[in-house]
Amino acid sequence: MHGSRLPRRSARANPVRRSIPRVELTYASYLRIPQLLSLQVPESDGPEHDEMLFIIIHQVYELWFKQQIHETEGLRRMLEADDLIAAEATLGRILTILKTMVGQIDVLETMTPVSFLSFRDFLASSSGFQSVQFREWEFILGHKRERPLANYPEGSDERAALERRLSEPSVWEYVLGFLSRNGLEIPREAFAEGTEPTRSCVALHAELIRMYRELPRLRGLCELLVDLDEGLQEWRYRHVKMVERTIGFKKGTGGSPGVGYLQKTLFQPIFPDLWEIRTEL
Ligand code: HEM
Repeated sequence: MHGSRLPRRSARANPVRRSIPRVELTYASYLRIPQLLSLQVPESDGPEHDEMLFIIIHQVYELWFKQQIHETEGLRRMLEADDLIAAEATLGRILTILKTMVGQIDVLETMTPVSFLSFRDFLASSSGFQSVQFREWEFILGHKRERPLANYPEGSDERAALERRLSEPSVWEYVLGFLSRNGLEIPREAFAEGTEPTRSCVALHAELIRMYRELPRLRGLCELLVDLDEGLQEWRYRHVKMVERTIGFKKGTGGSPGVGYLQKTLFQPIFPDLWEIRTEL
């Protein structure tokens, strides 16, 4: 990025901005680089060399979670506007970011178990388990549960964010709405979504199968959703194997049994109907 000033056109288009005294915008000021680089604060004495990597990789994931939530909110708006081309382009971007997120596990796997143990105690009870944005993204997509809310005090911003996500229609509901406006008979019960993960709806299967056979444009959208589902399951698998090679079967810092807990989260689809129809196709 080389720009040092606001582009003239947008300054003119926005009267509020025009009245603000011109401050020289630089790479560092626009991206808040000094603030960003002040956020990596190791807890270990020394500090231990690999704690920097551990902090940075988690922060990078949080930034990707933020972007994925942003893109997924956009996806819902595009589905609501029946804009299939934009929805598919957005799904393509979400998938590309997800590939990067899966690939980044390789970086963490360069850290040996001994190296991680050198600072693990300093992490106390903190764990990725407590990532609010990860839960938000799960809930937006449709993998809703009330249980994770108990990890955040009542009245906290984190809890409020998750309560809001629980009450919002998920991506799957937006997809069903889109399909029903575009030629599919969607049974009412398929929309029945509470605060639990999306359940499969057998009454929906015949219409989905018909769509897969006869409506390639809509099938293309659903295949991207299957890619997303598979990609997230791939992230979970890579994460659990990375955890196993780093801490074996020790308990997690978040208080769970560790690998045993994480293994139970594997192979749980977000869009179960899109998987179940395959046997009948
Ligand atoms: C050495 C590196 C890591 C280890 C040893 C590790 C270990 C664990 C363990 C044991 C759990 C289960 C909960 C607990 O008791 O703590 C967990 C959950 C989790 N971790 Fe990690 N983790 C590591 C890196 C990461 C990274 C880089 C992220 C990215 C944000 C991450 C995100 C998560 C998430 C989202 C969960 C919750 C999964 C779920 O409940 O479905 N972890 N991790």
